[in-house]
Amino acid sequence: MKAMVSSPANDSAEPVVLGEVPEPEPAPDEALIAVEAYCVNRGETLQLDGGLDRRRPGWRPGKDVAGTVLGAAADGTGPAAGTRVVAHPPAHGWAERVAVSTANLAELPYSVDAVTAAALPLAGITALRLLRTAGPLAGRRVLLTGASGGVGHYITELAAACGAHLTAVSGTAERGARLLQLGAAELITSVDDAKGPFDVVLESVGGVSLPSALAQLAPGGLLVWFGQASRQPVTLNFFDFFKGPNQARLAHFDYTASDPTYGKDLAALVRLVAGGRLHPEIGTVRDWSHTPGVIDDLRGRKIRGNAVLTVS
Ligand SMILES: NC(=O)c1ccc[n+]([C@@H]2O[C@H](COP(=O)([O-])OP(=O)(O)OC[C@H]3O[C@@H](n4cnc5c(N)ncnc54)[C@H](OP(=O)(O)O)[C@@H]3O)[C@@H](O)[C@H]2O)c1
Repeated sequence: MKAMVSSPANDSAEPVVLGEVPEPEPAPDEALIAVEAYCVNRGETLQLDGGLDRRRPGWRPGKDVAGTVLGAAADGTGPAAGTRVVAHPPAHGWAERVAVSTANLAELPYSVDAVTAAALPLAGITALRLLRTAGPLAGRRVLLTGASGGVGHYITELAAACGAHLTAVSGTAERGARLLQLGAAELITSVDDAKGPFDVVLESVGGVSLPSALAQLAPGGLLVWFGQASRQPVTLNFFDFFKGPNQARLAHFDYTASDPTYGKDLAALVRLVAGGRLHPEIGTVRDWSHTPGVIDDLRGRKIRGNAVLTVS
């Protein structure tokens, strides 16, 4: 079958190429899925750059897929052949077919199409779990950096629905426009313009953004650091932190840590979409032959929300 395969790290050509790979061999708890659409995430672009030290020739990305079950899991768990599903495998999803544990997929109603569903897994699960980490949000002030990305749009709509007063930071007003429609109370284009104090800061840009956001916390406030989209490391002077808000907390976040399975959260996201309470922001939909160009656009901050590829 055909799949997107990582090119050698020292090769200046496209990060992935369409190649022939062996058919998946599902484990007993895995369903075989015919992929109709997949999503490219920033984390995968980092992996393709060697940023997480995992790029190797022949590596096959792909954590977010939607399609139809071709073969049910042999152990009897999960949906029957012919069921439409969304799934979150650890890799190998940018392909015609992928095997996925039945613990990591959810059924799709007919009202949710494959393109919409493919935008849900990594970004949506991360947003849900970040908000659980943040705690109750009703009436609380939240500052969100990197808000125009895939995760940011979901956080904005979900946090606003919980009653948060959310300030979104986006590179430009145009890139952030949809965030106001999704419930952000205000949109700013630099974290330095934020008018604190904030009870919760959700930070994923890194570089100078994190110390600036940290200084805006209310006493006892929480900053959850979940990414470094700028690729610039953070420098934090202990004494600046010490002089800052009393009892402020800086939290680690890894979306895989609280539960290694994703089926329940995927089902929750699908229910929210089907009920008209969550609106995936899909900045681009292209045929999968355009995957290398979409990766470039994502790296270059040219895509708002999620990028979805359809498998022809
Ligand atoms: N810890 C975890 O478990 C976990 C899980 C998923 C994702 N993440 C991280 O969460 C972050 C958001 O993920 P995502 O999928 O939403 O990514 P994304 O779609 O690429 O969004 C990232 C956003 O960061 C902003 N940004 C600010 N400075 C940037 C720069 N110099 N270069 C590129 N972008 C910049 C961009 O918005 P503007 O251009 O509008 O400023 C962009 O929309 C990423 O850092 C990702 O690695 C972490």
